[in-house]
Amino acid sequence: MKNIVIFASGSGSNAEKIIDYFSTNKHARVRCILTNNATAKVIAVAKKNKIPTKLFDKFELEDGHVLKYLVDLKPDIIVLAGFLLQFPQSILQIFENKVINIHPALLPKYGGKGMYGINVHKAIFNNSESDSGITIHFVTEHYDEGAFIFQKTISISDCETPEEIAKKILQLEHLYYSEQIEKLLTSI
Ligand code: GAR
Repeated sequence: MKNIVIFASGSGSNAEKIIDYFSTNKHARVRCILTNNATAKVIAVAKKNKIPTKLFDKFELEDGHVLKYLVDLKPDIIVLAGFLLQFPQSILQIFENKVINIHPALLPKYGGKGMYGINVHKAIFNNSESDSGITIHFVTEHYDEGAFIFQKTISISDCETPEEIAKKILQLEHLYYSEQIEKLLTSI
């Protein structure tokens, strides 16, 4: 049985879908949710599903505290799901090609620092894009720059606000993130 560890900072809807998907899966289980946000809804999601949580701050992410915790957890994959801090090089070096992220747009467009959550969809809406989508990619020390694992495009021409785009894209994330994680886990 392989171990999945999730990092999340916010509402945790992707984390919840991933927990559900793997709760009856024969390849892997979600072992822990790590968060830098004490008020994140993802903590309640983890508690409801009896998944341990680990709260840390920005300094503990950088000073080796989180790395030590991760080494003990022995994750086969580290999944970022709405995690908003820069992921440190020290962890990426130890878990090379094991840290993945989902971005709510078609990278390399609409990525980089500050491009998260509704900011992304506002930029897309203001540029009158007719399509958007999701990108699942490996994480590097630069925001949104690792090799792509999966992309999916959809039409957003029916969306009249950035919030409508956000809703449509989040549904796409829920549909694809878990199965892409499973695919990666069965290939390593
Ligand atoms: C998701 O849309 C995810 O793609 C985005 O944050 C949201 C988290 O939602 N991540 C980024 O923008 C990272 N650059 P959730 O907490 O409900 O899963």
